[in-house]
Amino acid sequence: MYSDKVIDHFQNPRNVGDLPDCNGIGKVGNQACGDMMEVYIKVEEGRLADIKYKTFGCGAAVASGSMGTEMAKGMTIEEAMKITNRQVAKALDGLPPEKMHCSNLAADGIRTAIEDYFSKQKIGKGE
Ligand code: FES
Repeated sequence: MYSDKVIDHFQNPRNVGDLPDCNGIGKVGNQACGDMMEVYIKVEEGRLADIKYKTFGCGAAVASGSMGTEMAKGMTIEEAMKITNRQVAKALDGLPPEKMHCSNLAADGIRTAIEDYFSKQKIGKGE
């Protein structure tokens, strides 16, 4: 049912935990199931220098957070904004159709964290 990559990222999730010096946080909920994910990013010179996540979600959400953050790490903000749930699922060699919604948490979490970063920059500049 699950690919080897999903199982690997579920059993050995990358980038789990807090990022105390983050400058963007994305908190998202999944309308389909009510599960949640938080993504923390540290932006340096327009790139995601570091990224972590935590989720109260299922195994597919854990694997999606792990893969999504691995994909986003080192990307420019513009590149990371374009990560879609389908790309995350594809990188995991697919998710079962009934689990595709779980990958939304990762893509939406990354995007929301970047939006939070932008809003903090504006506040910092007094706009
Ligand atoms: Fe809720 Fe997977 S069932 S994130």
